[in-house]
Amino acid sequence: MRIRTQVVNHGVPLESMQKMMAVASEFFRLPPEEKAKHYSDDPAKKMRLSTSFNIKKETVRNWRDYLRLHCYPLEEFVPGWPSNPASFRDVVSTYCREVRRLGFRLLRAISLSLELEEGYMAKVLGEQEQHMAVNYYPKCPEPELTYGLQAHTDPNALTILLQDPNVAGLQVLKDGKWIAVNPQPDALVINIGDQLQALSNGRYRSVWHRAVVNSDRERMSVASFLCPSNSVVISPPEKLVGDGARPVYRTYTYDEYYKKFWTRNLDDDHCLELFES
Ligand code: OGA
Ligand code: NI
Repeated sequence: MRIRTQVVNHGVPLESMQKMMAVASEFFRLPPEEKAKHYSDDPAKKMRLSTSFNIKKETVRNWRDYLRLHCYPLEEFVPGWPSNPASFRDVVSTYCREVRRLGFRLLRAISLSLELEEGYMAKVLGEQEQHMAVNYYPKCPEPELTYGLQAHTDPNALTILLQDPNVAGLQVLKDGKWIAVNPQPDALVINIGDQLQALSNGRYRSVWHRAVVNSDRERMSVASFLCPSNSVVISPPEKLVGDGARPVYRTYTYDEYYKKFWTRNLDDDHCLELFES
């Protein structure tokens, strides 16, 4: 398995990916009054349906609704998840377990690629939380006027994104240009997040990405975020700082970083820049 934007042979069965997408789209097709039960714009809530990105802080709206779930440990959070559609909890739990396994496999490969011990990243990230954003981008009558999700980097460590196999929309910034990441039905998209950039002292870069919308078709995606434990101290290993060189970023806790992230607009400058040493 090579680490690149999209991975195949990732160990998550195609059937789980398809079931996950199907139950997600069933959820968003529920009547508005059923979905409204879950609505909240408080980012601290561990299960909520919301819209755009962060309604209380933002100045520009995104053409998106999303269901956000905490997913680890499952026993703690599943009882608070939607029970309609009836298969939601089962299907999503199964998918969460498989994706987490893939995440840890990627962290081992990333550690080795930096010539660190295989278990290094998993160890420094602590007991990682796992969050999910089920994104629903309705058809947009004037797609050139907005985004499904504005350009951003993910604030966590590693993100595994399942895309709607039928509708393109994700773009990543590469050498100053926005490139479409067209969906491949059996592939998952891997995004490096801000914390792996900091922990690798800048060797891995968190990727700028955005979602565009279109006027003919709605689109869905399911993002699974592996997040450092809140109390973890983020600081690169000595080996990557080099002979007397300074770390690129100051030492901070993930709790501090995450709070800062949610006080800002999505398309502000890179949050990580505020933590440069
Ligand atoms: C996200 C994200 C992209 C997409 O949820 O953080 O970047 O294609 N989603 O929906
Ligand atoms: Ni993202």
